[in-house]
Amino acid sequence: MRWTRAQRMSRPTFARIDTRAFVANYCYAKSLAPKANAVAVIKANAYGHGAVALARALEEKADALGVACSEEALELRESGIRSRIVLLGGVFAPEEIADAASHKFAITVHNQTQLDWLLAARPERPLQVWLKVDTGMHRLGFAPQKLQSAYRQLRDCAHVSDIVVMSHFACADQPGLSTTRDQLALFVRALDDTPAPCSLANSAAILAWPDTHRDWIRPGIMLYGSSPLDSGETRTNGLRAVMRFESRLISIRQLAAGDSIGYGARYTCDRPTRIGVVAAGYADGYPRNAPDGTPVAVNGRPACLAGRVSMDMLTIDLGQQADAQIGDPVQLWGEQIAIGEVARRCDTIPYELFTRVSQRVHFDYLGGRP
Ligand SMILES: Cc1ncc(COP(=O)(O)O)c(C=O)c1O
Repeated sequence: MRWTRAQRMSRPTFARIDTRAFVANYCYAKSLAPKANAVAVIKANAYGHGAVALARALEEKADALGVACSEEALELRESGIRSRIVLLGGVFAPEEIADAASHKFAITVHNQTQLDWLLAARPERPLQVWLKVDTGMHRLGFAPQKLQSAYRQLRDCAHVSDIVVMSHFACADQPGLSTTRDQLALFVRALDDTPAPCSLANSAAILAWPDTHRDWIRPGIMLYGSSPLDSGETRTNGLRAVMRFESRLISIRQLAAGDSIGYGARYTCDRPTRIGVVAAGYADGYPRNAPDGTPVAVNGRPACLAGRVSMDMLTIDLGQQADAQIGDPVQLWGEQIAIGEVARRCDTIPYELFTRVSQRVHFDYLGGRP
C-alpha cells in the first residue's frame, strides 16, 4: 500500500474535501435557475477548499469560474484549467489587461479608471467585459445613471468582444427585507432596453429570489454546502457539505467537580466530567472565540467544547461517551456538524471559518486528487 504525504503525517488534523459534493451542489444551483449559465465562485482558494482541485472537478460542467484577481486566475491556468474565468474584481493595474486577454480572462469593469485603462489598452485579442453597476451595495460599480454611457464606450471599443451587465446584492440573505427588490428594480431601470445579458444572483438570491436569476447566476457559498439563509423556509436540502474539518482525540482526562480546564480556567466542571483533548486549535483555523457548548461530533455522536481553544488543541466534554478512546475521530464541522451553527455560536459566518482553515491542516481530496 502506498501512503500519500498527508497519510504519513502524524498530526491527525484534516480538511477532507468531497469534490463530488461540490459538483453536486453546482448542479443543484443550476437546477434552481435552469435557464441561466453559472459562474462558480472559487475566489480565495475556493473559499479555503482548494481552487485548483475544485476547478478541476468542475471543469467538464462549469460555464465559468469566478475569482477575485489575476493571481488567482493565473494559478488555475498554470494548473491546466481551460474553463472560462471571470475576474470579479477586475484588474488592479492597466498592465494586467494584456495578460487577461492572452489568458482569455473576462474582466469586471466597475469604475471609470478601469474603463479608461481598458479603452487605452491594445490587447492581443478582444476581452469579454462584466460591467458592474452599483444598485445599493455602494462599494463597487458605476452609478445607475452612468451605466448607459459606460456601456456605449465598451460597445464601441474594438477590443471588447461582448458585455455582461452585473450588480451585487447587499441583503439577499434576508428575504424579509425589500432591499433586494429595490436593487433589482433600480437595475432594470438603469439597464433600460440595453440588449446585454445580465447577472445579479449570489447564493442567497439563487435560493430566495428567483426573479433575479436572469442570464448568469454567481453561486459561491452554496457550492460548499452552506446556505447563506438563516430562515428555514428555503430549498437548501439539496446542498451537501464539501469540507469535513476533523481531528482525533489525543488525550482523555477524568476530572472532578470543581476542576477547571485550559487557559484562563474558563470552564469549571460542575460534576465529574470526561474531557477529551482534540488536536485542532486556532492555528488550524478553529475559531478561538468558540464558546463552551459549541457542538462537535465524536465517533458521530454529539459532544461539545469545554474550555478556551488554544493554538494546537481544544478540549471537549465527552458527556455520556464512556467508550470514547484516544485516536477516535472528532468532527469540528462537516456533514454531522453544520458549519452555520459553529459560525453562529462564534458570531461569524461560514465564509470566514472556511477561509481561515490554515495551511497546517492536511487537505485530503475525496473523489479526485488535485
Ligand atoms: C461579485 C460576486 N458575485 C458572487 C459572489 C458569491 O457570493 P456567495 O458566496 O454569497 O454566493 C461573490 C462573493 O462574495 C461576489 O463577490
